[in-house]
Amino acid sequence: MDELHINDVKIREASVNDIDKIYLIEKLSFHEQEVYPKNLLNFYLSIAPKTFLVAEVRDKIIGYVIAVIRRGYIGHVVSIAVDPSFRRKGFGKLLMVKIEEVLKVLGCVILRLEVSKTNTAARNLYLNIGFVEAYEVPKYYFNGCDAIIMFKLLSKYRQTLV
Ligand SMILES: CC(C)(COP(=O)(O)OP(=O)(O)OC[C@H]1O[C@@H](n2cnc3c(N)ncnc32)[C@H](O)[C@@H]1OP(=O)(O)O)[C@@H](O)C(=O)NCCC(=O)NCCS
Repeated sequence: MDELHINDVKIREASVNDIDKIYLIEKLSFHEQEVYPKNLLNFYLSIAPKTFLVAEVRDKIIGYVIAVIRRGYIGHVVSIAVDPSFRRKGFGKLLMVKIEEVLKVLGCVILRLEVSKTNTAARNLYLNIGFVEAYEVPKYYFNGCDAIIMFKLLSKYRQTLV
């Protein structure tokens, strides 16, 4: 593939047809025990179709992000990954910026996520876009790694939280 530019990428809602490719990216991106099986990916697609996004370059899926909305106002970023051959080109950041926009439109005032303490790439990405590291959960992951819980405030004030 020729040199890629950030403008070559299209971010759109995922569809059932994308699940095989998303699963491949999962397998290339996470420890065996942390990989989401296809049925879990399909479950997220069914409960959160507006907040399951893919990044597509010339008809190829190169990354995805999944979020769910908790209590109507907390946007929980459940997973994000970019195909290893397409990393460090700004696509992860773009996926995060887009999911943040969608979650805000859907009424979220705060974002939350968990990240492994040893995952420097992801921690830097989240810090880079304004998340703060709030607290640690020891041995959160199957491999025994600690998690860091991160938040980002989207809006300082909202009239009601119904
Ligand atoms: C985390 C991940 C999604 C980042 O995707 P990406 O497309 O490579 O990230 P970007 O190119 O948009 O990088 C944005 C910023 O993140 C940080 N970053 C990304 N990769 C990094 C790395 N390997 N080392 C240090 N910082 C990194 C940098 O601050 C970077 O900004 P810069 O390029 O201007 O320095 C990708 O590394 C990935 O898929 N990892 C495996 C899955 C994973 O760990 N997901 C997160 C689970 S919590």
